[in-house]
Amino acid sequence: MSSLSCEDFFYLLGVIHVNVKEKINTLEKKLKAALASVENQAQLQEIKAEFLGKKAEISQFMKHMKDLPDEERPAFGQMVNEAKKRFSDLIEAQREAIKKAELDALLRKETVDVTLDAPDYTLGSTHILNQIIEEIEDLFIGMGYLIKEGPEIETDELNFEKLNLPKDHPARDMQDSLYIGNETLLRTHTSPVQVRTMLAYGGEKPVKIICPGKVYRRDDDDATHSHQFTQIEGLVVDKDTTMSDMKGTLLAVARHLFGPDREIRFRPDYFPFTEPSVEVDVTCANCDGKGCNICKQTGYIEILGAGMVNDKVLKMSGYDPKIYQGFAFGIGVERLAMLKYGIEDIRHFYTNDLRFNKQFKR
Ligand code: PHE
Repeated sequence: MSSLSCEDFFYLLGVIHVNVKEKINTLEKKLKAALASVENQAQLQEIKAEFLGKKAEISQFMKHMKDLPDEERPAFGQMVNEAKKRFSDLIEAQREAIKKAELDALLRKETVDVTLDAPDYTLGSTHILNQIIEEIEDLFIGMGYLIKEGPEIETDELNFEKLNLPKDHPARDMQDSLYIGNETLLRTHTSPVQVRTMLAYGGEKPVKIICPGKVYRRDDDDATHSHQFTQIEGLVVDKDTTMSDMKGTLLAVARHLFGPDREIRFRPDYFPFTEPSVEVDVTCANCDGKGCNICKQTGYIEILGAGMVNDKVLKMSGYDPKIYQGFAFGIGVERLAMLKYGIEDIRHFYTNDLRFNKQFKR
């Protein structure tokens, strides 16, 4: 474009606008035709360079500016710039169209066929023992109790001595134990958690707790015995605690587990850590207390052991028995489940046979 063309000449005569306008029109038509067949971003870039790049014809027009008379320059500049803007809009519109087409194609490719068969997932369920523990926990939380847990390996002192079972006490035989060392054993009940709590409270604060957990005894496994089973023990220590508090609490437990019409009765029993001690029976839910095979014609089923906390136990854990009294109870979770659901062998709880476990889906 260094030598003078006839267009430059026309411009000098004042008709260049017409010619440049014509050129722009032609270019615009060419651009539209090129865009119509463009298929991807790379091709679009090439077209952009061709029509709007430094070497594009429209970019060359500006070089003529300086040859124009002053009064012509603004109109000429505006005309060229407007054309560049139109070209650019056309290209960008096409860019959007390509993007949309590409996205549509991708979505079509990735469409999920929702009519395909899904794999057969099976949901697990809470083990029946845990269901009963949770049910009992809910009841006691509602009555303002705290849930306390402790270690399964215990010291002889906390498992026995502080519960009024000194080394040579014959009642230790009630709980055949599994020793790990001279002074350590697998806990035979969750009562040591109660001792731990009383000691931690320092003989000052009232205690209102239940302690769920695994316990261990030296037993030969059969249909009704297991060397490991599950207990929930409870302890209340406060001022003015009486046996009728205990009775009301245990009646609530029996009704929560076996139905609103159940009654309970106490029979005298012996535990070294409680005095007096009782065995608690509930009226048989099967025959409503009339007598059947399940309750061996007695109308009652034994569900737990309980009693007023022995003064010696309170003292050893720092509570003054002249000021504080308490009651305690121990529930065997497997036994409860067996009574409630008519399960005839305790080993079913531990063998994880799905045919057994699946019967207790909540
Ligand atoms: N600790 C007793 C046991 O395991 C259960 C129990 C607790 C009995 C509290 C009475 C009072 O056999």
